[in-house]
Amino acid sequence: MKPVEIKPNIYWVGAIDWSIRDFHGYITPKGTTYNNYLILDEQITLIDTVKESFSEVMLKNVSHLVSPKSIKNIVINHIENDHASALGQVMDLVPDAKIFITAKGKEGLSRFFDMSKWDVTIVKTGDKISTGSKTLLFIETPMLHWPDSMMTYVEEDGLLISQDAFGQHLATSARFDDEFITSCSEKELDDAVLDYYANILMPFGFIIKPKIEELQKLGLKISMIAPDHGIIWRKNPEKVLQQYLDMANGKAEEKVLIVYDTMWKSTEYMTYSIAQGVREEGLDCKVIKLRATPLSWAITQFWSCRGTLIGSPTLNNLTFPPVMQFLSYLRGLRPKNRLVGAFGSYGWGGGAVKEIYEVLKGMGLEIYEPGIQVKYRPSIEDEENCFKFGKGFAQRLKEYHKNFK
Ligand code: FEO
Repeated sequence: MKPVEIKPNIYWVGAIDWSIRDFHGYITPKGTTYNNYLILDEQITLIDTVKESFSEVMLKNVSHLVSPKSIKNIVINHIENDHASALGQVMDLVPDAKIFITAKGKEGLSRFFDMSKWDVTIVKTGDKISTGSKTLLFIETPMLHWPDSMMTYVEEDGLLISQDAFGQHLATSARFDDEFITSCSEKELDDAVLDYYANILMPFGFIIKPKIEELQKLGLKISMIAPDHGIIWRKNPEKVLQQYLDMANGKAEEKVLIVYDTMWKSTEYMTYSIAQGVREEGLDCKVIKLRATPLSWAITQFWSCRGTLIGSPTLNNLTFPPVMQFLSYLRGLRPKNRLVGAFGSYGWGGGAVKEIYEVLKGMGLEIYEPGIQVKYRPSIEDEENCFKFGKGFAQRLKEYHKNFK
């Protein structure tokens, strides 16, 4: 690997993780990258590190340009392990380097490293440092992605180093958006942005909008956005800013998703008829069986569709565990602006549909009721009712979707 110059004397020195498929439970079929950046100036400055297992790759990248021992400053934009766990190896080489970090960052990082002998400066929004010919402006972005998070803006280059925000889990030899679009496609890039947002940043949509507005008020002239994962936005940074604003405003497609699981296929048979009912109303209907699909993919589909129906058999008077697992993950992501309903099968007492509605109502989502239940196997009449249920849901969804146009 060799470093890549992204702006005059500013280099990407990160690592490409081609093989990771499970990123703390988030399934990453296309791998990821751990981006970090080196500013060659009077004060050589490293911005973020990488995941510890890639520290050697990063240090070798730096060595292509300069001895790692000449690093004077280290900016830690975010302390999560995929970006800060290689800090120990860097500090072993440059124990006198100055570290710039938020107060929450220092507090959190001290749980991973003994920082007592490190030269740490706490920074907050508006603080600046000079590396010689370049000025770094810090902007705190708490909860994007952790309480410690901040971004670093290089004033002379219009470069926003945005840590997790605007990233994507893509391992690719392309470093920039235009390169990726040429070698793959714009759609693939859009999907990667959506997938990442849905699984990482969905809970923080209410913070994203004011934060982007704050960036605009600061009058930053952003010509490039360099996140800590995936490709760097050099051709069209405005596009990803707009995508984030749209998602924070609840943008979704006028489509229906059915997520379900099944024990003896009764709930699955209901799914067939419900999906046909949705189609009858002219809407696309995606269907996901949970045990056949990574949870993170199901969440991305949930986020991309305006409405979702959740199907489950009843097991011991409760929801089938794979469906509950989905709901638990979804609840933590605090989705908004989505229409939801439930259906399922049972043998005697029932319980799954009731429990699913309780969970969905607790999330504050738009509810479509009543749900539909079938005892043991759906009969022809039950299938007809499921068809009507799907059709009714689609009709309601078309009305609900108008609120977002
Ligand atoms: Fe890529 Fe929040 O770490």
